[in-house]
Amino acid sequence: MDELIAEGGQIRKLWPFETGAYRDHLLRLDVASRRNRFGGAVSDDYIRSHIRDLNHLDAVLYGFFVDGTLHAAAELRPIGTWKSGEAEAAFSVEQNWQSHGVGSALLERILLTARNRAIKHLHFACLAHNQRMQQLARKFDADLRFDFDSVVGEVRAQRPTPMSMVREAAADGYALVNAMLDAQTRLLKPR
Ligand SMILES: CC(C)(COP(=O)(O)OP(=O)(O)OC[C@H]1O[C@@H](n2cnc3c(N)ncnc32)[C@H](O)[C@@H]1OP(=O)(O)O)[C@@H](O)C(=O)NCCC(=O)NCCS
Repeated sequence: MDELIAEGGQIRKLWPFETGAYRDHLLRLDVASRRNRFGGAVSDDYIRSHIRDLNHLDAVLYGFFVDGTLHAAAELRPIGTWKSGEAEAAFSVEQNWQSHGVGSALLERILLTARNRAIKHLHFACLAHNQRMQQLARKFDADLRFDFDSVVGEVRAQRPTPMSMVREAAADGYALVNAMLDAQTRLLKPR
């Protein structure tokens, strides 16, 4: 599943040692994308503290990498604990990569991960005017029942299956190898 999409990019899970790349990606978002991602205007310091909080929240992160640089991400965090059956998802795609199918590929990963953790209710932090995010969610109406007034999606196939678990585990194996290769690419890049 760690497939190549859109001009040589790669989608994979992020590991705890990669939160710096996630912070740098969020800081690079243009003003409108940053506002849409966080549901309002936020400062650089807010983003730094959001990243620090992630370490305590048991979040699952997926990233879209090109040449070792993270250009888009999806964050899935439980509301309370994973046992609550509720989670919140948020997406961020840098402007140059929007409308290339990256958000769709990230939402697919988030739905698989949510399913494997028996999440029934998935909340999307989505401003009412954010048509692109709403269009994206609508594309997945086979998997999600979406009520835009309350920005809560219900994951339809709620139970994990052996196949869904294997799909995530297999992707994790590739993700770890690729995380190492991306770290190496970053080290070798001229500053
Ligand atoms: C919202 C966001 C995640 C969507 O990701 P994306 O990679 O741009 O979306 P995709 O290319 O996968 O397109 C998804 C669907 O959105 C719709 N879409 C794409 N570009 C669009 C545009 N310019 N205007 C309106 N709808 C658009 C299309 O229906 C598309 O599906 P299709 O191409 O199969 O028809 C991304 O644009 C983003 O990060 N925006 C800034 C932050 C944000 O809004 N986050 C969401 C709140 S958490």
